[in-house]
Amino acid sequence: MENKKTGLIVALDTSDRQQVESLVTALRDKVAYFKVGLQLFSTFGPEIVTWIKSTGGKVFADLKLHDIPNTVARAAVALTGHRVDMLNVHLSGGPTMVETMVTEVRKYAAAHDLPVPVLLGVTVLTSTSETEYLQLGYNESLNERVVRLAKMGRECGLDGVVASPREAVLIREACGSEFIIVTPGIRPRWAAKNDQRRITTPGEALNLGANYLVVGRPIVQAGDPAAAADKILAEMEGDCDAAS
Ligand code: C5P
Repeated sequence: MENKKTGLIVALDTSDRQQVESLVTALRDKVAYFKVGLQLFSTFGPEIVTWIKSTGGKVFADLKLHDIPNTVARAAVALTGHRVDMLNVHLSGGPTMVETMVTEVRKYAAAHDLPVPVLLGVTVLTSTSETEYLQLGYNESLNERVVRLAKMGRECGLDGVVASPREAVLIREACGSEFIIVTPGIRPRWAAKNDQRRITTPGEALNLGANYLVVGRPIVQAGDPAAAADKILAEMEGDCDAAS
């Protein structure tokens, strides 16, 4: 398990194999993990994970698993077998689902002499607006739910959560300094906001307690992705010139 680390996670949100290859080649020495989400995984299957790993890159399988405990555990075990370095499940699947997944992944990794991936939970999707959240009918506020789910995840043995930078302070307070917080919704001042709404800059997200920052379009769609990544890394290291 990795603690107190910070780093950049690049979301490889594309179905273009050539673009994936050129991004991974250009960025593999700069980023902590490449995020393989549903789009990429559904397009190329586990082979894309194997290929990224063959270049020396680390893989975060952002598949947000959510199903009955046995199904989620088997899928997470399969991903562990594909040597992913980080994976996630929806915490709303409940403690039995999360605990079964953690137990089975650890068992499988030990039996096959593999490292245990960093195991993360998704609290409430940051794309869920307050209005939409009310329609779901929960009898607690969005922040209360995020914190309760994060604590539940920690008690079930997860290493951390994926959450909005705005929730990072509350989660850090509730779950302690060792808990890993991965935050999307990151926009440097020089980048377009796209469809992201509740954004922070890389420096702000780290100040709020995030460990790993997920960045997609500001890097993936940049004319020079390596230069864009360098600028963001410089801002993460506190270089104010890079932030302007
Ligand atoms: O291009 P952009 O930087 O907005 O990409 C952010 C990435 O983080 C995308 O892959 C998106 O699916 C993911 N993500 C997000 N908000 C969440 C969870 C994941 O933006 N709550």
